Amino acid sequence: MNELEFIKETALEAGKLAKSYFRREDLLVEYKSAKDLVTEADKHVERFILEQIAKTYPEDSTFGEEYGKTKGNHREWIIDPIDGTGSFAQGQPFFSISIAMYSHEQAQIAAVVAPILDEIYYAEKGKGAWCNGKKISVSKTNDLSQSMLATGFACLRSDLQPNNIPFLNAILPRIRDLRRFGSAAIDLCYVACGRLDGFWELNLKPYDIAAGKLIVEEAGGVYSDFDNKNHHRAGEVLATNGLLHSDLNEVIRLVKADF
Ligand code: IPD
Ligand code: CA
Ligand code: CA
Repeated sequence: MNELEFIKETALEAGKLAKSYFRREDLLVEYKSAKDLVTEADKHVERFILEQIAKTYPEDSTFGEEYGKTKGNHREWIIDPIDGTGSFAQGQPFFSISIAMYSHEQAQIAAVVAPILDEIYYAEKGKGAWCNGKKISVSKTNDLSQSMLATGFACLRSDLQPNNIPFLNAILPRIRDLRRFGSAAIDLCYVACGRLDGFWELNLKPYDIAAGKLIVEEAGGVYSDFDNKNHHRAGEVLATNGLLHSDLNEVIRLVKADF
């Protein structure tokens, strides 16, 4: 099995495990902070993924949301065992398992599984992006007023200042419609397959976006932070079909100029 097959297989098996906990009456839910949840499913799924990686690629490094980092070689597996725990804990379908492998800080392969939506998105550097075996590409919307974007509010969860509200107030009147699905990894995959024309959020963590970033880029999209730099560790995310990137960057720049 090659690495792309491994990451797809592992993400699909992790998705089945997450699904076995979905809508359980007795699901154990804890609070990591006032508004940040973690469930027994998050921890079990991450342990499962870490075990598969340790068995197959024992020399590699890992970085997971719930169990942190293990130091190995230059290849790092970045894991969000359940992206959208808030949705998952409420019995809503918009959550995903996100796994990416980076080598020397460059994304190589990625997989995002949405088990209730029955979709697996995956990408390999330089070779493209797929959903359920079908090649995907970003939308062709080139007019901001005709666009549908998504965002999220992790910033409010951690009382970040400035937060996303000024950006929302500036962007919302300029677009056709907005969605807040609850999983940044799914938001990014929806940009990659054209169901969204763009996505922005502040204060995301590397495991939220590591896989979705490669999937967007391999589908022909553009990914940057709010200063148009391209890095998977930045908290700010702007991902678009490319056609809308400079217009959105300009709106964001004007908002930041007021801070
Ligand atoms: C969250 C989801 C949500 C985003 C938050 C993330 P989590 O991930 O991706 O859509 O708005 O910023 O933290 O915490 O459920 O893994
Ligand atoms: Ca997450
Ligand atoms: Ca998570």
